[in-house]
Amino acid sequence: MAYETIIVEVADHVALVTLNRPDAMNALNDQLLGELAHALQEAQENDKVRCIVITGSEKAFAAGADIKMMSEKTFTEVFLGDLFADEPSAILRIRKPIIAAVSGYALGGGCELAMMCDFIICSDTAKFGQPEINLGVMAGMGGSQRLTRFIGKSKAMDMNLTGRFMDAEEAERSGLVSRVVPAKKLMEEAMSAAAKIAEKSMITTMAVKEAVNRSYETTLAEGLLFERRVFHSLFATEDQKEGMAAFIEKREPQFRDK
Ligand code: HXC
Repeated sequence: MAYETIIVEVADHVALVTLNRPDAMNALNDQLLGELAHALQEAQENDKVRCIVITGSEKAFAAGADIKMMSEKTFTEVFLGDLFADEPSAILRIRKPIIAAVSGYALGGGCELAMMCDFIICSDTAKFGQPEINLGVMAGMGGSQRLTRFIGKSKAMDMNLTGRFMDAEEAERSGLVSRVVPAKKLMEEAMSAAAKIAEKSMITTMAVKEAVNRSYETTLAEGLLFERRVFHSLFATEDQKEGMAAFIEKREPQFRDK
């Protein structure tokens, strides 16, 4: 499929997806969200891809859902059409690890998209926010739910009620992002994290992703049981034998996803 609003590059086992609507600060319209879902599914099915990175431009990861696309919609349309129901499920279905590399604005749906990735690495220029309140609406793709679990109620309320932006330093302090790097180093850092993940057994990276995400969906006891059972199941893989043998033999493991 030829994409118009995103750029997809696959190299060295990493799929890099760049949001590309420069005239609109990468605002998320139906076309972009559809193309993104398609590209992620392709990456999921491509045996060469072992990790995915989603990024935007230096100025904006994404400044939110496309306000021009939504402005004339009625309650009946968005309710019956279940606006923004399918896009999260398309992203959350991807089992390979996804890193968000955020520079500039990640606002509204842009912040929510970044939070749907497995972790966020951002540049020191990043600004996160849920400013929907200024438009007479509220977050609709996780800004009142995921953000609250990630940074706590007080900060999530503050962001959602005042619409203020959070800078990179506060985002790291609050646990929203895993690393902050100088803007010039962002892609190097994100691609090197992706390369590190791509070296591992894909069975284990997918198991880890599933287990960590499970912690947001279940009780601690159920989550711990899930974790232990998945941990047990990895002993059925050749990669567990290889990983442990390589350690004992003091060499690098050669994982084969088996
Ligand atoms: C449509 C957008 C847009 C958006 C920016 N643009 N954000 N178009 N939807 N979300 C467009 C502007 O209209 C403008 O186009 C161009 O991008 C450049 O933006 P400027 O405002 O001129 O740039 P600047 O002054 O640098 O300000 C940057 C900004 C501001 C702070 C990011 O654009 C802004 O506040 N954007 C809206 C952020 C927002 O409210 N996001 C939440 C959206 S609602 P023209 O053609 O005029 O030059 C949402 C709902 C989520 O996300 C619910 C579930 C998904």
